[in-house]
Amino acid sequence: MGITHIGVFTSGGDAPGMNAAIRAVVRAAYYHGVRISGIMGGYEGMVHGDIRPMAVRDVSNIVQRGGTILRSARSEAFRTVEGRAQARHVLGAAGIDALVAIGGDGTFTGASLFQQEHGIPTIGIPGTIDNDLAGTDVTLGFDTATNTAMEAVDRIRDTASAHDRLFFVEVMGRTSGAIALHCGIAAGAEFVMVPERPEGIEELVSALEKASSSKSSVIVIVAEGDEEGGAYAVARKVKERYDHYDTRVTVLGHVQRGGNPSVADRVLAGRSGVAAVEALLAGRSGAMVGVVNGHVVLVPFAEAIGVRRALDPELLRVLGVLAI
Ligand code: F6P
Repeated sequence: MGITHIGVFTSGGDAPGMNAAIRAVVRAAYYHGVRISGIMGGYEGMVHGDIRPMAVRDVSNIVQRGGTILRSARSEAFRTVEGRAQARHVLGAAGIDALVAIGGDGTFTGASLFQQEHGIPTIGIPGTIDNDLAGTDVTLGFDTATNTAMEAVDRIRDTASAHDRLFFVEVMGRTSGAIALHCGIAAGAEFVMVPERPEGIEELVSALEKASSSKSSVIVIVAEGDEEGGAYAVARKVKERYDHYDTRVTVLGHVQRGGNPSVADRVLAGRSGVAAVEALLAGRSGAMVGVVNGHVVLVPFAEAIGVRRALDPELLRVLGVLAI
């Protein structure tokens, strides 16, 4: 028998565009005549039975909103065999026979395990501001978060140049430097510190020494997960070696996770939601909806989970050329 009732949920850190993706999944399900329910609070709602049938108008006026109307949570219970068995029981009682999981690496790890143990067809939609999933060019929320970070750095540049200051700006990315790198190029940063590249303090100090002969203000973007530590730690280490500039530190933090999604994220959400539902109806499972060279593709979870995505070397080079 084919799929009759899809459950959709968001899990892990929220990302702008998740609501637009929920809307797309609900609308696509209605379009194809399939029942759809929202599972609240990610895997927690699955374990504890917080499931709400969704009508087509329940997703009106959310395409533009950040956050997630389905909420998100970390579930300790779902990490256990018993918790997942309980979740299977809950889904069975609700009549849900397929899942759309919106989230990142951790979300898909759980989904993959659950599918292997209990055989429920599942398709993932990559949603994380970090853009750190292998198998897709871009994840939901990355474009919006990077624009938010860029606008903040633009503002910081105004005051930095008014006072001839050196700013260390910390952006999100516990294991990924994608926001730092893209924001660095877009906002004209002088240097970027990312976890994927071991650019030490000495290299940074040399760049600052070089910059000091021709530049009054300098901006260094530090990904929070850089091996030298966050922006405060990097600023302290630099000051111990080179004390030329009046220095300030700004940590952008969760401001990058909120806000209205960009056009790119809304369009990506729409395409991904429709593709996820249609993949399930076509009998596909155990994969996420990726975008490769502009085309929507299905990428097996196994190719995306736990694979550390490298930063584009071309972008790293461009940053260096432009920061001269
Ligand atoms: O994974 C997305 C992300 O925003 C990371 O960039 C960041 O390190 C982390 O989530 C923050 O998580 P939390 O909201 O739990 O502090």
